[in-house]
Amino acid sequence: MSRIFSGVQPTGNLHLGNYLGAIRNFVRLQDDYECIYCAVDMHAITVWKDPKELRSNIREVAAAYLASGVDPKKSIVFAQSAVAAHAELAWIFNCVARLGWLNRMTQFKEKAGKNRENASVGLYAYPNLMAADILVYKATHVPVGEDQKQHLELTRDIAQKFNNDYEIELFPLVEPLIFGEATRVMSLRDGSKKMSKSDPSDYSRITLMDGPDEISKKLRKARTDPEPLPEKLEDLEGRPEAANLVGIYAALADKTRSEILQEFAGSQFSTFKPALTELAVEKFGPIGSEMKRLMDDPSYVDSVLKDGAERARAIAAPIIREVKEVVGFLTD
Ligand code: TYM
Repeated sequence: MSRIFSGVQPTGNLHLGNYLGAIRNFVRLQDDYECIYCAVDMHAITVWKDPKELRSNIREVAAAYLASGVDPKKSIVFAQSAVAAHAELAWIFNCVARLGWLNRMTQFKEKAGKNRENASVGLYAYPNLMAADILVYKATHVPVGEDQKQHLELTRDIAQKFNNDYEIELFPLVEPLIFGEATRVMSLRDGSKKMSKSDPSDYSRITLMDGPDEISKKLRKARTDPEPLPEKLEDLEGRPEAANLVGIYAALADKTRSEILQEFAGSQFSTFKPALTELAVEKFGPIGSEMKRLMDDPSYVDSVLKDGAERARAIAAPIIREVKEVVGFLTD
């Protein structure tokens, strides 16, 4: 049986990359699989996070899921900290994962920057908690953007080592689900950098809450090059900003990048950008306004999270119990 798990950090500024790389795919999977989607609030405090902002950002992630079409009756939507088994399994994984494995994690290196001595221990152990998020449900498939690939490889290593050490086939080896035409959306200001929630420039990303004016302004200012769009995909090589905008268009239009190039071959960005703006406004307008409506009604969002946490706890309970028994803890 397949079970899907994925999560988004409640760190504000949810953007086009989060949507096209992950959230949109969550919606597409829910008709065929049992899906568990989480606002990973324990991950969010690995760097300093204002408590008031955190509370609002957890609701923002839940609102983004719902507004994008995640159906809380079909899928489980909840906040990570509400299910204690994540933290319990994470500790056990802290004792399974090796320092050498974590030392290779590029996300830690990027986030800790030069001042590594001052990074939190939580930021370093982050991938172990991520493995626990997934494996505490014995999830088999994880829809994510490309940047999470390395973390999922580590999740497999942890599952394998646990299974080997305790001589039991307890955890599945998870498969990443990375699909669509925009699995790595780049910054609108710099085609060599990933679009991210933490980029200091608002112009680097389109957020799910941006209205038509903001979307249009940001795309107008998006960096491009002076050449018209080519006919063939391979001719986008070496043109990261152009490739990024074509990828975004294709993903939003639900077409391939080649189809988009056929449509726009020879066009200047002065033609392409307004078309992209129109498409983005059409797709994001309803999501942003539904998110705002939901955020104005936190009691509904909170009730969805509460119900989701109960259902998640019920799935995790026998699994964490089994793990504790295997490890040798006394269970009642
Ligand atoms: P986070 O919160 O950074 O991002 C949430 C999801 O959005 C995807 N994503 C992108 N996709 C395409 N282009 C981009 N520029 C872009 N930026 C982000 C991410 O790949 C992710 O799928 N560690 C995770 C959260 C997490 C998790 C988990 C995910 C915690 N536990 C268990 C899956 C399973 C993270 O920081 O995602």
